[in-house]
Amino acid sequence: MIKIGVCGFGTVGQSFVNHVLAYKEKIIKNCGRDICISIIADRSIERKKFKTESIEFTSDILSVLDSDCDLVVELIGGTDLAYDLVKGAISKKKSVITANKALIAEKGEDLFELSNKQNSYIGYEASVAGAIPVISSLEHNMLNENIISISGIINGTSNYILDQMSSAKKSFKDALNNAQELGYAEADPSFDIGGFDAAHKISILANIAFDIKSPYKNMHIEGIDSIESMDIDYASELGYKIKHIATARSNDSQIECKVHPALVNKKNILSKIDGVMNAVKIIGDKFGTSMLYGHGAGGAATASAVVSNIIDYCIHLDRKVKSKPDSIGSGSRELVDIQNISNQYYLRMFANDVPGVMADITSTLAKHQISIEAVTQHEPFENEKLIPVVMITNSVRYKDILSAINKIETMDNIIGDVNLIRVFNDD
Ligand code: HSE
Repeated sequence: MIKIGVCGFGTVGQSFVNHVLAYKEKIIKNCGRDICISIIADRSIERKKFKTESIEFTSDILSVLDSDCDLVVELIGGTDLAYDLVKGAISKKKSVITANKALIAEKGEDLFELSNKQNSYIGYEASVAGAIPVISSLEHNMLNENIISISGIINGTSNYILDQMSSAKKSFKDALNNAQELGYAEADPSFDIGGFDAAHKISILANIAFDIKSPYKNMHIEGIDSIESMDIDYASELGYKIKHIATARSNDSQIECKVHPALVNKKNILSKIDGVMNAVKIIGDKFGTSMLYGHGAGGAATASAVVSNIIDYCIHLDRKVKSKPDSIGSGSRELVDIQNISNQYYLRMFANDVPGVMADITSTLAKHQISIEAVTQHEPFENEKLIPVVMITNSVRYKDILSAINKIETMDNIIGDVNLIRVFNDD
C-alpha cells in the first residue's frame, strides 16, 4: 500500500484528491500497487471542508513528515516552507511529487542530489506547462540526440491577457482580473506578468535539455507589463501577434535562455496558441520539430500531471530508477550574456510631426549599423500632435539596439521612451 500525504489543499490540492478518489481503481491498476491518501495538511484546513472517512487532516504541514506516508505531494508553492518539507521528506527517505517550479528551478540541484543519495524519488511533471507531459517527453524520448531549441508559451495568464487585449479589446487590467477569477494566475500575479513563472519553467527545461545548471538566477526575464493595446494593433498590421515567449537554445558551447514578449509571425504555429493554452516547440537534430500543446494552468489539468508521477514513482520503486540521472543538468555549459544575443526588434516611439524627423531616426540607427526592414507612420491620436512611428529592424545585438535607442530618446522631436519588443524567429 502506498500512503500519500498531501500538503497544500488549494485549487490543485483539492483537484488532486478528487482525481485520485475518482480514478483510484484505474491508478491502482496502472501502478500495480494499492494506494490511499492518508493525510492532508493545509495551513487553513479548518476552512476547507472535505468529507471522507479515512483521511487525517492537519494544519501543521511539517507534521506530515512524522506520519507514516511514503509519498509527500507538495502543493504549497514558494521556496521556504516547501523546501523544508521536501528536504525533510527526502531526509526521511520518503519520496516527493511537486508542482512547484520555483522550488525545482531554484533549489532543484540540492534536492536531486539528496534524493539520489537517499534513493528517493522526486516527480515534478506538473511544474512545467501543467498537463502537458513535456518533462517526461524530454527525458524519455528526446535526449538521445542534440536538442537545438525549446521555445514555448508557458505562462497561461500572460497568454490569456495578451489574447484578451487582442481579440476582445480588453484592457490589461480587466484581462488580468478575469485570469485571476478563472484561477489561472499565481497567488501573486506579478510572478505571471513579470515573466518569473515562465522563467522558472524554461530554466527547468533548459537544465534537462542542455546539460546546464538551472539558468534561472542569471537569465534575462521580461514580462508583459510594457505591452500596450496600440503595440498589439501595430504588430498585427505588420503580420505579427504579440506573445510571451520563453526560449532556450544551444549556441555552440553556450546556451541562450530568456523570456520576453515577442512579435510572432502569424504564419508561425506559436502565434496560434490562444487563451490560457500552453505550447512547447522542441527542435532536435534528428526528430526535427515537435510541438506539445495543452492546458498549462488550472486545478484539474495540473493535478492530472501530479497523478501521472504516481506511476513514475512506482516504476522507481520497481526498478530503482533515479528520478534525475546524474548525467542530466550537471554540465559546465554557460549562459550567453543577453547583451550579446542578436534579435530583430520592433520599435515604437512618438515623434513631433515635423520635416526630417524620420531621417534623423534612420540615420541614428544607421550609425549603429542597424537597418530597417519595415516602417510605418500612423495618424496622430485624436487631439494630439504626436505621430506614432513603428519600425522593425534587422537582427542586431541587444547592446547595440540599446545604445541606438538611448541616442534616439535624446532627440528633440522624439517624445517619451522608445518601446522595444523582440521579434521571434525560430527558423
Ligand atoms: N500561473 C501559471 C500560469 C499557472 O498562468 O501559467 C501554472 O504554472
